[in-house]
Amino acid sequence: MGEQKTVTFIITRQDSPDSQPYEETFEVPYRPNMNVISGLMEIRRNPVNAKGEKTSAVTWDMNCLEEVCGACSMVINGRPRQSCSALVDKLEQPIRLAPMKTFPVIRDLQVDRSRMFDALKKVKAWIPIDGTYDLGEGPRMPEKKRQWAYELAKCMTCGVCLEACPNVNDRSSFIGPAPLSQVRLFNTHPTGAMNKDERLEAIMGDGGLANCGNSQNCVQACPKGIPLTTSIAALNRETTFQMFKNFFGSDHMVD
Ligand code: SF4
Ligand code: FES
Repeated sequence: MGEQKTVTFIITRQDSPDSQPYEETFEVPYRPNMNVISGLMEIRRNPVNAKGEKTSAVTWDMNCLEEVCGACSMVINGRPRQSCSALVDKLEQPIRLAPMKTFPVIRDLQVDRSRMFDALKKVKAWIPIDGTYDLGEGPRMPEKKRQWAYELAKCMTCGVCLEACPNVNDRSSFIGPAPLSQVRLFNTHPTGAMNKDERLEAIMGDGGLANCGNSQNCVQACPKGIPLTTSIAALNRETTFQMFKNFFGSDHMVD
């Protein structure tokens, strides 16, 4: 019988938020069509490292397993991406897995993405329509506008664009490309536009647009192909109008 083919994973591990990271190597049996998560599941089933030592199971986050929820994002062979859609056959071996460095590590490959969710709260990335009575139907969006807005709505808050951005780090309060693009999305919606000024004000302050260094890494890294840099350019124009509006006290609507 020939030797069984294996896949080598070198994983950056960390036992707790405050402990030191270290690397551990694992060899798992190869199966056709494996993704990185099936390799991690194999390690969880049999947590023995490449030296044959019993170790703790590696932890990571996942949910949808079809590149929709963004939870399984990690750095795979140096590139931030989703581990559920990373196919072993398409990756160079050994496969190196590390947690995204932009977010605090909880344990192993699990990170705390609160930074991004807090930024979404800061920019009011939702349409406030809840109330005590039925508000009826909202205004319709022209189909053409709806189609491009849908492109922005594909964001799964995976954090990959924040990880790819050199200006998002623990020394900066920059909210990053994804929350900025959501401002454009919600300001585009006819009902969402009622809070347009509030959203623009939020990104004109600390941690907002001015912190973008225009590296363009975000747009290349986004797995959903969201036109992040186009959104940022559009918001730069809108905030300039907003600045004039604030200065001159005009109530002229800028669409
Ligand atoms: S904009 Fe793209 S890369 Fe950034 S969080 Fe959304 S889906 Fe992920
Ligand atoms: S598990 Fe949801 S994107 Fe990978």
